[in-house]
Amino acid sequence: MEKKELLYEGKAKKLYRCEDDDLLIAEFKDDLTAFNAEKKGTEEGKGALNCQISTNLFNLLEKHGIKTHLIKTLDKNHQLVKKVDIIPIEVVARNTATGSLTKRLGIKDGLVLPFTLVEFYYKNDDLNDPILTDDHCLLMGLVDDRSKLQILKDKALKINEILKDFFAQRDLNLIDFKVEFGIDKNGEILLSDEISPDSCRFWDKKTNEKLDKDRFRQNLGNVKVAYEEVLKRVLKENK
Ligand SMILES: Nc1ncnc2c1ncn2[C@@H]1O[C@H](COP(=O)(O)OP(=O)(O)O)[C@@H](O)[C@H]1O
Ligand SMILES: [Mg+2]
Repeated sequence: MEKKELLYEGKAKKLYRCEDDDLLIAEFKDDLTAFNAEKKGTEEGKGALNCQISTNLFNLLEKHGIKTHLIKTLDKNHQLVKKVDIIPIEVVARNTATGSLTKRLGIKDGLVLPFTLVEFYYKNDDLNDPILTDDHCLLMGLVDDRSKLQILKDKALKINEILKDFFAQRDLNLIDFKVEFGIDKNGEILLSDEISPDSCRFWDKKTNEKLDKDRFRQNLGNVKVAYEEVLKRVLKENK
């Protein structure tokens, strides 16, 4: 598959048309942004690391019955994916409180939540990705009926169980993550976009060291080293 014209450039990926109109080529960029792109940076090789991490995690999820947009990896930083209409809701699942949850509600950073919290945020940079209630989602027409929201929640919880287990076996605590879903030409809801240290938080089980984009957000340094460590653990055979 050859890249044709650039359809869309986001903060972390470029999407290209290809010979097949139902498919797209996603290129993972080395750019890093945080706080709605107020903070910008670049780490050579980050795109390739995220592409490999995301490919492995999507393959794992497919094995567990989660349908995804991924067809295959083309090279180190390109994937061939099914073209979908992205549902403009960022679905966030949280196992441990940190980040905006602690700031907004005053919950103690690092508190292990009594159950997995699923939240919706409006995928809209102009509005700073505000949090959404179910009624907001319906009011705005982001989904056509309430049952779709339950499907998104259930999928996020299932993804969480699979990933939490997978990373626990690799001495990483899955603190939280964000996923996006899209609807393909058959009307099927597919896990889309990416799952990577840009969109997840991982804390090392033994040291509590952060191995994700918080290293960039909080100027902790060694961003690429951390992403390499996550890939290394993802590739580790099951104990
Ligand atoms: N399979 C897909 N089909 C269509 N759009 C997709 C697909 N997967 C991801 N996208 C969209 O591609 C865009 C580029 O990704 P990214 O650079 O991460 O964007 P953003 O700046 O919004 O985070 C995003 O709007 C994302 O939702
Ligand atoms: Mg993105």
